[in-house]
Amino acid sequence: MLVSATEMLKKAKAGHYAVGQFNINNLEWTKCILQTAQECNSPVILGVSEGAGKYMCGYKTVVGMVNGMLEELNITVPVALHLDHGSYEACLKCVDAGFSSIMFDGSHYPIEENVEKTKELVKIVAENNMSLEAEVGSIGGEEDGVVGMGECADPAECKMIADLGIDFLAAGIGNIHGKYPENWPGLRFDVLDAIQQKTGDMPLVLHGGTGIPDDMIKKAIDLGVAKINVNTECQLVFADATRGYIEAGKDQQGKGFDPRKLLAPGCEAIKAKVKEKMELFGSVGKA
Ligand code: 13P
Repeated sequence: MLVSATEMLKKAKAGHYAVGQFNINNLEWTKCILQTAQECNSPVILGVSEGAGKYMCGYKTVVGMVNGMLEELNITVPVALHLDHGSYEACLKCVDAGFSSIMFDGSHYPIEENVEKTKELVKIVAENNMSLEAEVGSIGGEEDGVVGMGECADPAECKMIADLGIDFLAAGIGNIHGKYPENWPGLRFDVLDAIQQKTGDMPLVLHGGTGIPDDMIKKAIDLGVAKINVNTECQLVFADATRGYIEAGKDQQGKGFDPRKLLAPGCEAIKAKVKEKMELFGSVGKA
């Protein structure tokens, strides 16, 4: 059964580790991430962006697929199905479809409007036993065609949003989605520290987990990050492994064209990457 992410992230924050949010794109991604979480006895959050939701034929299809897998694969670790960077309308759709967690990304609104919309969602989420992530300070890079500049959140605004009754808070600290440019100056730990001082026990979320050096990840966890989002890195290793298979001509040997064979190296690569991240985040054995 799907669970909200509230408990797993409270435990993570108190225990000084982080739970990974791994974005799903299709059946293979979902299966690989769930199997790895089970093998690692780790809680996990499946992230679904609006674009990925559309690609997978809508939120109801995603809920059906994930619930089916939890049962058929005997998944017993805590799993949350979470809308990633949702608009207000997408949040309502996911509540309706049976997600267990949503992120409302109101970071592009003036703070007053972000507060108003977040407040409404706090009520709706409570009525449905779900968890809610809110965002302050837009996270840079490109996601679903939207390019942000990578702001740093204002700690006072973070406190305003954190006090509304949300479950966890994403705050920009110089992180961006996708690959980091060569000249990226790194995470702003001074800003993260100031945010944690204002928001106390609130689990903080680090987006753009791809390509952040391990030592920075560890320091971010020390400063209150309890959820780390990873998407691009799984896509990169999947593409690499699939290219290797085709370049080696394996799709042309025997029944190597069978999608179950063609996609297998990519799947193994996703599993290895998810396991590596769970170990780095410290969530192994924490289910
Ligand atoms: P990356 O694609 O950079 O790993 O970021 C994922 C993310 O933050 C999803 O919200």
